[in-house]
Amino acid sequence: MKTIAILTSGGDAPGMNAVIRSVVRTAIYNDVKVLAVKEGYNGLIKGDIETMTLSSVADIIHRGGTILRTARSEEFMTEEGINQALKVIKKFKIDAIVALGGDGTFRGARELVKRGIKVSCVPCTIDNDLAYTDYTIGFLTAVETAVSAISKLRDTSESHGRAIVLQVMGRNCGDIALYSGIAGGAEAIVVPELEIDTDAIIQKIKNGRKRGKKHHIIVTAEGALDAYDLAKIIEEKSDIETRVTVLGYVQRGGVPTVQDRILASEFGYRAVNLLIEGKTGLVLGYKDGKFIEVDINEALNAKKELNKELLKMVDILSI
Ligand code: F6P
Repeated sequence: MKTIAILTSGGDAPGMNAVIRSVVRTAIYNDVKVLAVKEGYNGLIKGDIETMTLSSVADIIHRGGTILRTARSEEFMTEEGINQALKVIKKFKIDAIVALGGDGTFRGARELVKRGIKVSCVPCTIDNDLAYTDYTIGFLTAVETAVSAISKLRDTSESHGRAIVLQVMGRNCGDIALYSGIAGGAEAIVVPELEIDTDAIIQKIKNGRKRGKKHHIIVTAEGALDAYDLAKIIEEKSDIETRVTVLGYVQRGGVPTVQDRILASEFGYRAVNLLIEGKTGLVLGYKDGKFIEVDINEALNAKKELNKELLKMVDILSI
């Protein structure tokens, strides 16, 4: 193992830089050269590649985004794109690749593994939608951002006696909504995995009002019912003025939390060591308090399920 390349692909996630730092430093410690591929799989097609040194990753552990930049490469989804990437891999004498990202990145990596390229993947996405791991890098930071928004929204909700619907990201996964809703003390949480019961939400708001409650925070995931439609239903049926906040891309940026930085550091370290040991086609994960490595196919086939017990708990705690 003489040369490892690293790339970040898909949506950026806070903590990606901490993984990059860890990969670069672990590789150099082991006398392995590290190449940085820019803009995800696009850089692998174009040959947009440069050598990393110890100082290329100085002062980045605390920075959100990705210093390598990222993209959702459409070209890499084609046979021509992959063949071109294989040529670049040969030209730069790349022995193995560490790919950081979510399920789209893993699918891209699987194509390379199928063609004999050695790859390790690190789960980086704010969505936490990969079933084989309890946490993906960036998720806990995104939850912190959403919780901080909820605290601010509470102030204005209470002052005006309004209901607020906060829409968070997550694509088809309700984890950001669920975790931020729990930590922020939301009255109701709406997730794409379960059918929404608007009558139950409205009843809860009305019950709260009767006992003098003035703030009502409903957290909804982007893959569930549209926040504006939900706000309209709440306003019409409860007669309580309702406002909407769509948190958007603010969740994707910012300083990664301590948990994300620690997980990121260990994922990067392990990803390089796996490749040095000659292991390929594996994705890193953290399950039930332990670091794990799973076959890329197994990881992609695992079906993510929402923790319904937690949702039930929210219902009880927000009674
Ligand atoms: O996967 C992360 C994510 O932020 C999702 O929560 C969201 O649906 C999507 O990316 C947005 O994608 P894009 O960056 O392409 O707009």
